[in-house]
Amino acid sequence: MFSFLPLAILLAGASLNEALHIPYAHRHSRSRRDANTDLVAASWYAGWHSDDVPLANVSWNKYTHMIYSFALTSADGSMVTLADSDKELLPQFVQTAHANNVKALLSVGGWTGGQYFSTNVADASNRTSFVSALTDLAKQYSLDGIDFDWEYPNNVGIGCNTNSTADVDNLLQLLQELRADPAGSQFFLTATTPILPWNDASGSPATNLSGFADTLDYLAIMNYDVYGSFSATAGPNSPLNDTCTSSANQQGSAATAITAWNAAGIPMNKLVLGVPAYGHSFRVAQADALPSEYNGALALYPKFDQNVANQPLGDSWDTTDRPDGGWLAENGTFGGADGIKYAWDECSQTPFLYNSTSEVYVAYDDATSYQMKGNFVKSNGLRGFAMWETGGDYKDILVNSIRSAAGFSS
Ligand SMILES: *[C@@H]1O[C@H](CO)[C@@H](O)[C@H](O)[C@H]1NC(C)=O
Ligand SMILES: *[C@@H]1O[C@H](CO)[C@@H](O)[C@H](O)[C@H]1NC(C)=O
Ligand SMILES: *[C@@H]1O[C@H](CO)[C@@H](O)[C@H](O)[C@H]1NC(C)=O
Ligand SMILES: *[C@@H]1O[C@H](CO)[C@@H](O)[C@H](O)[C@H]1NC(C)=O
Ligand SMILES: *[C@@H]1O[C@H](CO)[C@@H](O)[C@H](O)[C@H]1NC(C)=O
Ligand SMILES: *[C@@H]1O[C@H](CO)[C@@H](O)[C@H](O)[C@H]1NC(C)=O
Ligand SMILES: *[C@@H]1O[C@H](CO)[C@@H](O)[C@H](O)[C@H]1NC(C)=O
Repeated sequence: MFSFLPLAILLAGASLNEALHIPYAHRHSRSRRDANTDLVAASWYAGWHSDDVPLANVSWNKYTHMIYSFALTSADGSMVTLADSDKELLPQFVQTAHANNVKALLSVGGWTGGQYFSTNVADASNRTSFVSALTDLAKQYSLDGIDFDWEYPNNVGIGCNTNSTADVDNLLQLLQELRADPAGSQFFLTATTPILPWNDASGSPATNLSGFADTLDYLAIMNYDVYGSFSATAGPNSPLNDTCTSSANQQGSAATAITAWNAAGIPMNKLVLGVPAYGHSFRVAQADALPSEYNGALALYPKFDQNVANQPLGDSWDTTDRPDGGWLAENGTFGGADGIKYAWDECSQTPFLYNSTSEVYVAYDDATSYQMKGNFVKSNGLRGFAMWETGGDYKDILVNSIRSAAGFSS
């Protein structure tokens, strides 16, 4: 449903395949759960992009945790499903992560894979089966942990998920049962969450989720897709802040998300900022993107063509077309490409680009917006960052920037 634009396609002419020349360091020794609260530098590795992003080309030394995506929930909760290609690739993923002293997690769910979470946690007997399925899978593949990417408990996600008003309570009980299991007690357990706290039984954001702080190692907040093809106007994919813009444009941000999750009982050092290595494109008419009274400056939050058929596509991960290459310089900054307008939004602290000929408007992240996000991780004492997805940042432009700002050694 989204038009994803990995940073790759905005870079000057370089094809993804040509540009993946990534050295990686070999380190050894590992443990599962951390006794301490070391900073987390995580990324989700999308199994289906492994041809473009081979394991050997991942910059393992930039990460502490890598999360293989995705295993799918099953109607029968005594199993968690892996596609045949994932069954082949996952052991290599775990082996490569371990060879690099990186924790290997498996994410269960995702946008399409969480259909049966609600059923699987719904009662004691189903939870027991689900705990067995998860621990068996983790043992079979030598995983260090499991990421629960339920989109979303007691809320509409893709539309076909089973659901219950008791989803959040049941998920907590599942995690408590998993922690009571000898193997489960050793796993690194994480959750991937929306910017608002999960819905309680009344359907409103929960106010007390402190039980999750006791059972999970961290919760990663997906601060992306805040604006996209589904929005009323074009706007930032991943705003750092939104309380500084007009109320109509306040759709959430990293700042409001961590405030809300923290108020719901999750300490800052259990929160990880989810960050995107992709952008969203919109078709914006010239008159809306470059209103005459702006004297050539690019408008923020312009209206766009809502007709899906007119929505601009991204790169080869979105379409066979690659319409946008050449907008940015090789180092990922805007270098003044012909016919391209650039704007920096001071409130969301993210950049925008616009091709006035094709009328394509792009919300994205760059090294500067990632630096702001890294500063934010550090100044708020968050546990770290998690980037969707590994291959979107194949030149390490974004990860280097956020690591340095968040306080990782270079
Ligand atoms: C992975 O890296 C190797 C060594 O740098 C390179 O030869 C290869 O083309 C890369 N693979 C892809 C798919 O980019
Ligand atoms: C428990 O799981 C089974 C499938 O294994 C399902 O049919 C049943 O509805 C679930 N129980 C609840 C209370 O959802
Ligand atoms: C729960 O599922 C029902 C039946 O599929 C659906 O109509 C409803 O919208 C769902 N509610 C939520 C909050 O997901
Ligand atoms: C919040 O939830 C925790 C764990 O579920 C519980 O122990 C605690 O009493 C709750 N706090 C409040 C104020 O309801
Ligand atoms: C967000 O904006 C508000 C209002 O301008 C400001 O007080 C706050 O410091 C900003 N927070 C961040 C993280 O930029
Ligand atoms: C990136 O490249 C552009 C164009 O080549 C150059 O002007 C700019 O100084 C570079 N910026 C950084 C941070 O290296
Ligand atoms: C802007 O769009 C036009 C029309 O599609 C295209 O010819 C041009 O190459 C684009 N500019 C850049 C820098 O991609």
